Amino acid sequence: MQTRTTITLALLIVLLSFSAAYSAPGDRYSEHFAPLPRRADSLLNPLNPPKVTLGKMLFFDPRLSRSGVISCNTCHALSTGGVDNLPTSVGHGWQIGARNAPTVFNAAVLDTQFWDGRAATVEEQAGGPILNPMEMASTEELAVETIKSIPGYVSLFKKAYKHDKEPVTFANITKAIAAFERTLLTPSRFDRYLAGKKGGLRSEEIKGLDLFVSKGCVSCHNGVGIGGNSFQRFEYGTDEGRYNVTGATADRKVFRVPSLRNIERTYPYFHDGSVWELGTAVRTMASIQLGVELTDEETALIIKFLKSLNATRLTIKLPVLPPSTDTTPKPDPLWSPLAEEVPEDSADAVGGLEPIESE
Ligand code: HEC
Ligand code: HEC
Repeated sequence: MQTRTTITLALLIVLLSFSAAYSAPGDRYSEHFAPLPRRADSLLNPLNPPKVTLGKMLFFDPRLSRSGVISCNTCHALSTGGVDNLPTSVGHGWQIGARNAPTVFNAAVLDTQFWDGRAATVEEQAGGPILNPMEMASTEELAVETIKSIPGYVSLFKKAYKHDKEPVTFANITKAIAAFERTLLTPSRFDRYLAGKKGGLRSEEIKGLDLFVSKGCVSCHNGVGIGGNSFQRFEYGTDEGRYNVTGATADRKVFRVPSLRNIERTYPYFHDGSVWELGTAVRTMASIQLGVELTDEETALIIKFLKSLNATRLTIKLPVLPPSTDTTPKPDPLWSPLAEEVPEDSADAVGGLEPIESE
């Protein structure tokens, strides 16, 4: 009997110390990082299932663009990490934008939106691209007119905004899209590690994490997004960053620190998308931001850690969109902001394109 108790006790001690050793590593860095929440709710835009369903449809719907070609998913493709994998995005009429598209995954948990942080929330952000002549090139009136002409949408708006007298408004379009974005959270193995759960980090990834902390990456890339919660100077390229928003000299070349979640998939890197290899991005960061040169081995270990920030399981079901009707405004892919000022027959009327010669 006594030996049995001793054995049980010994076993218990072994088990306890094992579990302590197991959960301790995650705790070590809990002051720097936080696991993703299950939901990213908002008091100003409460989530409900019809609103999220609607927002998902609108996210994928190219009819919110003037051309009928471009949806949010064009530049933030959910099948490729929430980005377009282009140096800088291509918008209406093949216009090349000035900045790289950051991922929409986990954007809802970041303190600010855009490389220069000019919007605070996904709600504030979502109207921008629809109206931007470089991106989806629509107007509030056109977007609302389009939605109102599609009965499938009108009934969904009524369900999502039960208490609104006028459910189809531009504000409600953007709120629905933002509500969907609030569900785009991608927990990773690193979150399991932080929570002390099984299936967390492997030993080389932990070594990479240790370097990420000891070299000082963590001073800017921290919190729930592993970035996304501060502004820092980055002397690189020609973009003036946050200076364009505030006009303050202190904000020259200052950028919102990006989240590093899903970073393996969101190439090319930096605000101008000038770097394709993750290793080059990591080494550039170390030398410009920290004044240190990383060895090949250190770089490789940090990359191993960064890859542990990938979504563990991610399935996105494509929504089926309601059909247009006879009254739905027709797509206008050749629309140009210039067309409104120049004569119809001018080549400029179609954005400088030469008319196609016919025999
Ligand atoms: C033509 C390409 C394009 C389209 C279409 C587009 N975006 Fe973007 N998006 C971008 C680019 C480029 C940026 C970064 C711009 C900047 O920082 O100045 C961005 C930034 C964002 C951000 C900020 C993420 C972060 O980490 O800061 C969110 C969120 C976002 N877009 C959501 C959307 C939604 C929702 C739609 C549809 C309504 C949409 N985008 C349509 C290219 C696009
Ligand atoms: C002083 C703050 C600071 C430090 C330290 C820092 N970063 Fe960054 N990091 C930034 C900022 C700001 C950006 C955005 C750069 C831009 O505007 O293109 C960035 C961008 C990145 C990117 C590209 C993200 C993307 O989506 O394009 C990676 C990868 C990255 N950092 C990794 C690291 C690593 C690894 C370290 C440590 C070796 C590190 N960073 C240290 C501030 C910092």
